[in-house]
Amino acid sequence: MSITLSVIKADVGGYVGHSESHPDVIAKGEECLAKAKKEGLLVDYHVTKCGDDLQLIMTHQRGEEDEKIHKLAWDTFVAGTEVAKALKLHGAGQDLLADAFSGNIKGMGPGVAEMEIEERPAETIIIFMADKTSAGAWNMPLYKMFADPFNTIGLVIADNMHTGFAFEVHDVKEAKKITFNAPNEIYDMLVFIGAPSRYMVKAVYHRETKEIAAVSSTQKLSLIAGRYVGKDDPVCIVRSQGQFPAVGEVLEPFTFPLLVEGWMRGSHHGPLMPVAIADSTPTRFDGPPRVVSVGFQLSGGKLVGPRDMFADKSFDPAREQANEMADIMRHHGPFEPHRLPLEEMEYTTMPQVMKKLEGRFINL
Ligand code: F6R
Ligand code: MG
Ligand code: MG
Repeated sequence: MSITLSVIKADVGGYVGHSESHPDVIAKGEECLAKAKKEGLLVDYHVTKCGDDLQLIMTHQRGEEDEKIHKLAWDTFVAGTEVAKALKLHGAGQDLLADAFSGNIKGMGPGVAEMEIEERPAETIIIFMADKTSAGAWNMPLYKMFADPFNTIGLVIADNMHTGFAFEVHDVKEAKKITFNAPNEIYDMLVFIGAPSRYMVKAVYHRETKEIAAVSSTQKLSLIAGRYVGKDDPVCIVRSQGQFPAVGEVLEPFTFPLLVEGWMRGSHHGPLMPVAIADSTPTRFDGPPRVVSVGFQLSGGKLVGPRDMFADKSFDPAREQANEMADIMRHHGPFEPHRLPLEEMEYTTMPQVMKKLEGRFINL
């Protein structure tokens, strides 16, 4: 059976500050999607949160980029914004960059990851969601899952994975895409995806069966708005087991808290801490950045789950290490590489300070 998974997210208001989502906003999301399921638009849904982001996980049979599904998500975010406004939550509606819905939610602020699949006899799905970081944060984890034999032993010893995977990489500045085959082309690919603020892994495909293995949201809020308006807080869907990496191979990259951009004022590098949903409450220096993951088995499009995958004790050392790395980075204060390079900062006073000091710069 053909089924589409759509994960669409937006920050429609934070509680308290940008640290968490209010239960009433999540309840509104539930209400909207329950109605859509009853009306037959959705096969199933799960509403959750990562930090201050409202996450709509939906299954349906309308394919990717469907206007009705995108409008449902947009209307749900608008309804959530109303709740946020009534409670005077912080930054109510901050990710809704357009005044009204116009056909496709992409490019309007919310993050979108969608895949249409033929549901396998057992379809294992892992959905990753991050807060206080940017699209591009998935580059290293996806590389490790689908191209690194030190992470995924299946690439070496499972004959249904041994041919490798193809990576669709987007250049978000030039709006171009290219596909690299792993393992043959990994050196070429790493030149690009090692620079995740510009080159992002959009999707991964099985090279033999051509089936989609993973898809991520690559919406960059700053490029949409033409100015810095907040970090993108991206999402990613990964298929697991069988011809795809096992659950443990999909989760393994997050045992290392990679340094990502985001954190305080979207202007710092910090460690990506894997946490349970309940612990996606970035408070220290508005962080450190968080990643959560929920797992499902699909049954005729029904989302059997969720399992809170990072609630597992085996991720405790990664969390401790992330806290240690956070200390080390924080000691740099306003200096790079903790603070982002000038062109990547969400907040900057550079133009004003430059203007004030204009006459005081003397040629060397
Ligand atoms: C980072 C983030 C927060 C805010 C900070 C200031 O993505 O959301 O660190 O940038 O709390 O927020 P405002 O400007 O809304 O007061
Ligand atoms: Mg926020
Ligand atoms: Mg957020």
